Amino acid sequence: MTTYEGIGATYSCTRRPDPRIAARIQAALGDATSVINVGAGTGSYEPPQTSVAIEPSPVMIAQRPPEAAPAVQASAESLPLRTDSADAVMALLTVHHWTDLEAGIRELLRVARQRVVIFTWDQNVFRRFWLLDEYLPEVAAFDEGRAVAIDRLAALLGGARIETVSIPHDCTDGFGAAFWRRPQAYLDPRVRAGMSMLAQNNEEVLRPGLDRLAADLSSGAWHERHADLLDRETHEAGYRLLVADL
Ligand SMILES: C[S@@+](CC[C@H](N)C(=O)[O-])C[C@H]1O[C@@H](n2cnc3c(N)ncnc32)[C@H](O)[C@@H]1O
Repeated sequence: MTTYEGIGATYSCTRRPDPRIAARIQAALGDATSVINVGAGTGSYEPPQTSVAIEPSPVMIAQRPPEAAPAVQASAESLPLRTDSADAVMALLTVHHWTDLEAGIRELLRVARQRVVIFTWDQNVFRRFWLLDEYLPEVAAFDEGRAVAIDRLAALLGGARIETVSIPHDCTDGFGAAFWRRPQAYLDPRVRAGMSMLAQNNEEVLRPGLDRLAADLSSGAWHERHADLLDRETHEAGYRLLVADL
């Protein structure tokens, strides 16, 4: 059973593509006339020229909209696609789940003719995100074990342009740091279910930190400590786009 068979059932409720991030991904794909989406999930950020989506979890495939590109149940490490299948291949918020990163990247490079686009995060920055740093050190430790180092990823790609993606305060895609200015959201179990860093840690592990967050929100301590965040429009939490031209 894949991870997302267990945690993916409500993904499409809280993980709606954010239009500002979508624009960055579109720009990174450039003029590609065909795109393969690997680790495609429910189809977030897929441009209309997507020819096929690759996704191992039937639970995620079942949540794809009917008009989305055809999905094939498979994994990045062994793509059932011919060499040079599409102009571009994208892999968004997925590489940290792969069982064999090197094999997966080799496959992306094999099936892409011109460009590979990867969206992920830099753990060197992300570990300072207030939720992990102040409330959930266990989750920070969990992420240390699975985050893919940006320089390693760039090296496996044979070089890549690295772009910072700052997160809007009202980001509609509920991934890890999406609620940086809406701290109350992390107390909602439905929001937590859409984030693998929280959904893959059990409730007993999270409870003490979440209780402290709830207390700091009611006392005003969180708002006092993070007054600098409250009038910001975007936040640099470590999210990165890697764009490799082949
Ligand atoms: C956080 S979701 C991201 C989905 C989508 N790309 C998005 O941006 O919404 C991670 C996805 O990676 C998929 N995944 C896990 N292991 C994978 C693998 N070895 N190869 C390809 N996809 C994988 C999961 O099933 C899940 O759908």
